[in-house]
Amino acid sequence: MKIFRTKQELQQELSGIRKENKVITLVPTMGALHEGHLSLINYAKPSTDVTICSIFVNPTQFNDPKDLEKYPRPIENDIALLESVGCDILFLPSVEEMYPENDPQWQIDLGDLDRIWEGEHRPGHFQGVTQIVYKLFDLVKPNQACFGQKDFQQVMVIQRMLEIKNLDIKLLICPIVRNEKGLALSSRNARLTEAGKENALTLIKSLRYIKDNLDNKSVEELLEEAKAIIASNPEVELEYLSICETKSLSPVTKLEEGKRYVGLIAAWVENVRLIDNILLSH
Ligand code: PAJ
Repeated sequence: MKIFRTKQELQQELSGIRKENKVITLVPTMGALHEGHLSLINYAKPSTDVTICSIFVNPTQFNDPKDLEKYPRPIENDIALLESVGCDILFLPSVEEMYPENDPQWQIDLGDLDRIWEGEHRPGHFQGVTQIVYKLFDLVKPNQACFGQKDFQQVMVIQRMLEIKNLDIKLLICPIVRNEKGLALSSRNARLTEAGKENALTLIKSLRYIKDNLDNKSVEELLEEAKAIIASNPEVELEYLSICETKSLSPVTKLEEGKRYVGLIAAWVENVRLIDNILLSH
């Protein structure tokens, strides 16, 4: 695996690759890699010639400076993991490289996506995500980019950004990787005790309840009963649970035949904020 730390070095490598008309896939990450991240690389493999993973802990998407400071950076381990799945190129820039002084500031109109669910609870987060992902897209000019369904709203935000900026990049959306019990893998799980991990299963339990009862209950009943599952575990503090349209993420009150929906949840366990989701089709 080749490792580049500057835009210039990466661009030099890419110009050679582009001349050969190869399919380039970008997998943006913030490192502290786990099986969920690695699944993105494996997911992209059959449809790509060259896979580029970026590791960059992006300061503009953190609303809490302490969270940014605490973010794990086990780079040697990350490099070994990427090599084990056959990643071709790792881009590992510094903050100065991605946000040089006098970098023009811009915002993108994400509409309600910026105001609801994660947007509401993490103000500015998605503007930070779009800033860095746009910079990476502009630099790499990939044919495809791979993101995890785990961060469902993030995928919708990126899709909106592609539309607004008129970029011709195919989005690959990789299914959520879970542990054997069903807990969605996340770098934040490392901050949970074993008991915390058990309690965190309440999130997927409530989402699965919704999926399993979709055909015989109203949206109101589904939400009420799924929230009761969360409430029955005092170790879990619910932030939101909703059933939404998949693109706008607007909450719905009724399900229509043949349409696709998503159940979204965010909750706190042992002071760790967890998110999860489940695709629903009626
Ligand atoms: P990060 O949290 O490192 O996640 C990188 C990618 O891995 C995201 O697309 C995320 O959805 C995916 N991912 C994480 N856990 C997963 C799981 N259990 N199953 C499947 N995919 C999973 O998301 C970010 O970084 C940043 O916001 C980023 C897009 C890199 C911009 O800074």
